[in-house]
Amino acid sequence: MSAFGSIQRDSSVTLMPSPLSAWAESAGAVCCRMNGFPCDPNLLADQILSPGEKTDWLSMRAVEKRRREWLLGRYVAKEAVRELMEKRLGLRLAPAEIEIAPDGYGCPQVKIKPDGQSAKPPQVSIAHSDGTAMALAAFDADVGIDLEKLDRQAEDFESIAFSADERKLLAALPAEWALRMWCAKETVGKALGRGLSAGLLAFRVSSVEASTGFIEVEFDGKSFSVYTARESTFVFSAMIYQQGAVLMRPSRQEIMDYLLQKLSELAQDWDYTDPIRPESLLFTELGYGSLEAVVLCTAIQEHYQTPMPFAELLAEIGQQQRDLSINELTDFVDTHLTGATGPDAGARRIQ
Ligand SMILES: CC(C)(COP(=O)(O)OP(=O)(O)OC[C@H]1O[C@@H](n2cnc3c(N)ncnc32)[C@H](O)[C@@H]1OP(=O)(O)O)[C@@H](O)C(=O)NCCC(=O)NCCS
Repeated sequence: MSAFGSIQRDSSVTLMPSPLSAWAESAGAVCCRMNGFPCDPNLLADQILSPGEKTDWLSMRAVEKRRREWLLGRYVAKEAVRELMEKRLGLRLAPAEIEIAPDGYGCPQVKIKPDGQSAKPPQVSIAHSDGTAMALAAFDADVGIDLEKLDRQAEDFESIAFSADERKLLAALPAEWALRMWCAKETVGKALGRGLSAGLLAFRVSSVEASTGFIEVEFDGKSFSVYTARESTFVFSAMIYQQGAVLMRPSRQEIMDYLLQKLSELAQDWDYTDPIRPESLLFTELGYGSLEAVVLCTAIQEHYQTPMPFAELLAEIGQQQRDLSINELTDFVDTHLTGATGPDAGARRIQ
């Protein structure tokens, strides 16, 4: 096993899942996070950097904090690329075979070394804050990621970062959403490759879906869905955008058609033979118990690759001691697909 391999596998402080991991996976991407260094930074640099990157690292004229965040960012980015290449192409690469260099705007570009390899590199985005680094990697898509520590007062940046309309949106939301909206703007800037150079107000938050974490950001006449989440004292944001693709949410009728078909399939498993209609009641008519309801809810979330608050819905129904019609279930799914995006997340892709 290589020295790098031993860092990877034996340390208990290696890559950690983040609130973005499941979302990234459902969209065919990989998100990696690292809180602090797994070993001495110079040792890590020896083990993961390509010769070109090593030269950059050694000649980098920056304060130590910046050198370290650069290195930790490279570490998570290479891990995200390695995992993606292995999962999607079955290709196992050493970290030093993946070179990440900024383009003229600072946007990280991946090259697979040595030059001339036929493997197509993915896109990657990097963020760091307070000793934590994160990276998101995906094929054939522009990706953006950001994280910020929740130790900033919104008043410090709200008046500069947000328009009057955006501040109105914020007024109805808990304080952390100011930072989530900030992160969402940075994420779009990174995914499009120019950062925030167009100015913060050029990125306009048009809507916020607090229950799912999605924030819609408009920039240059286009709308982008950014997924955001919070864990402890950090907020996270990320997006995956395939140029030229138009994401269309399924219509209510399409959701209904899917549910009726899925219910018919499941009914065959327990010999229910009557026709299933939009008015059919799940529990009293179709004979669902709590286990069958959970199986159905899991299938729906997997199909749309979107988490939905089914636990709350089922609890509410239990408390009110009432039944659930297929019509009502359709409305619930329809509502919670709003704002979902990503290659498969509740959206049909039209090229
Ligand atoms: C790109 C930008 C959004 C990064 O934000 P940040 O809070 O400083 O730093 P983060 O930790 O979130 O992200 C840093 C990473 O973003 C990436 N990045 C830098 N410029 C980028 C760009 N144009 N496109 C995509 N990603 C970029 C880099 O990978 C960088 O990490 P690295 O240098 O260690 O590889 C910001 O620096 C920016 O907009 N810069 C360009 C214009 C500018 O400086 N405007 C003033 C802002 S008000």
